[in-house]
Amino acid sequence: MSKIQYFIESYGCQMNDHDSEKIAGMLQKMGYDRAKNKFDADIIIFNTCCVREHAELRVFGNVGALKKLKDENPELINAVCGCMMQQQEVAKKLFKRFPYVNIVFGTHCLDKLPDMITQARLGNRVISTEDGNEIIEGLPIIRQNKYQTSVTIMYGCDNYCTYCIVPYVRGHERSRDPENIIAEVEGLVKDGYKEITLLGQNVNSYNGRNGEVDFPKLLHMVADTGIERIRFMTSHPKDLSPKLIEAMASIDAVCNHIHLPVQSGSDRILSRMNRKYSSSDYLKLVSELRNAVKGIEITTDIIVGFPTETDEDFNDTLNIVKAAYFAAAYTFMYSPRAGTPAAKMAGQIPQNIKSERLKILNEYQASTLQNGNLKYIGTTGNVLVEGCDTRSECKQAFGKLSNFKMVYFPGDESLIGKTVNVEIISAKNNSLIGTEVKA
Ligand code: 5AD
Ligand code: SF4
Repeated sequence: MSKIQYFIESYGCQMNDHDSEKIAGMLQKMGYDRAKNKFDADIIIFNTCCVREHAELRVFGNVGALKKLKDENPELINAVCGCMMQQQEVAKKLFKRFPYVNIVFGTHCLDKLPDMITQARLGNRVISTEDGNEIIEGLPIIRQNKYQTSVTIMYGCDNYCTYCIVPYVRGHERSRDPENIIAEVEGLVKDGYKEITLLGQNVNSYNGRNGEVDFPKLLHMVADTGIERIRFMTSHPKDLSPKLIEAMASIDAVCNHIHLPVQSGSDRILSRMNRKYSSSDYLKLVSELRNAVKGIEITTDIIVGFPTETDEDFNDTLNIVKAAYFAAAYTFMYSPRAGTPAAKMAGQIPQNIKSERLKILNEYQASTLQNGNLKYIGTTGNVLVEGCDTRSECKQAFGKLSNFKMVYFPGDESLIGKTVNVEIISAKNNSLIGTEVKA
């Protein structure tokens, strides 16, 4: 008899992708196999996101499209999980509206999936959206990549930025025990992994063993495992301590890149967002980082059109983009999320103004980078090769420098997963072109 096949589709952030790896781990342990596509699958799982409305709408559309597959194969089990399903009202709505969805479950009961599948195979429909704050250790993980991967160090968020739904769906901050994190990283080193990203909604407030191990200390412990590269995300500016900057500067394995969401350049908007820093606090951090960590590149997240944002506030955002000089900015239109304070604020900004500001911001950010990559010409650095573009006549290997810059250079598939020393010979706006330096 052929094995039961599963298909997982992930929406949203790296945390969700990583949860999907745990779901895959549990399913493989049950003896199931990954399907090549939805159409071959016996179980389809959508792992959803609810950070912005756009992601939600996509899920509703895609779940609607499952009806046809269920009609063709009545045995098919459809499951929807993730952040969106941790919102009880939304989960109930989806469960009611789509009778061909067999299982709906939130982020806090990932480990119950095998039981829920057993129930569904007996013909029952299951919905589980309870809150839960304990950390589930020891779930099997099927990692998508063989040399670069993520390790969760903490769950949840206590910051309650007024626009953000995450604290409501991911719960309070809980830090994993450092021993469990180190054991996981040691296992990865043994398996040949070269780069890990330490994941959490706000990694700088990591608080292991009830305060004994803070994030800088954890970085030292992780580096001691011998892993080649350490990245982390996401960092909140309010918790970016001098001790962390010092750790970034002194630990070789820690990459010289930080993702540090600024969200806005207007002090008035930052305060309404409950971000707990001012634009000058942020710029001070940028300059401390640049002074201490050689060659660091900074990336960010920015929201435009937060309630009451005026042209002047938006102009302050453009000014901070210019002053901070971000290597990349992930930019979003403010999207009201039911249950968050900002959704109820007066002064919601019309859609056309939000789109216009987003366009202006994106063009402005791109203009600050023009010719900015030229400074890399003639420098050399290590690239961890992620893939190979075979479309051009001469195959191009590509991967990132420690500072997160993407580099292309002539090379084939055999280099994937290897660290290659590359000299940069030319620069584009969003990437660098190099050539391998043979030892
Ligand atoms: N609307 C728009 N963007 C949002 N983000 C979080 N919540 C919202 C929202 N309601 C953005 C922030 C955050 C990133 C992950 O998503 O910029 O840093
Ligand atoms: Fe959301 Fe703010 Fe927490 Fe980030 S720090 S997850 S934006 S509440």
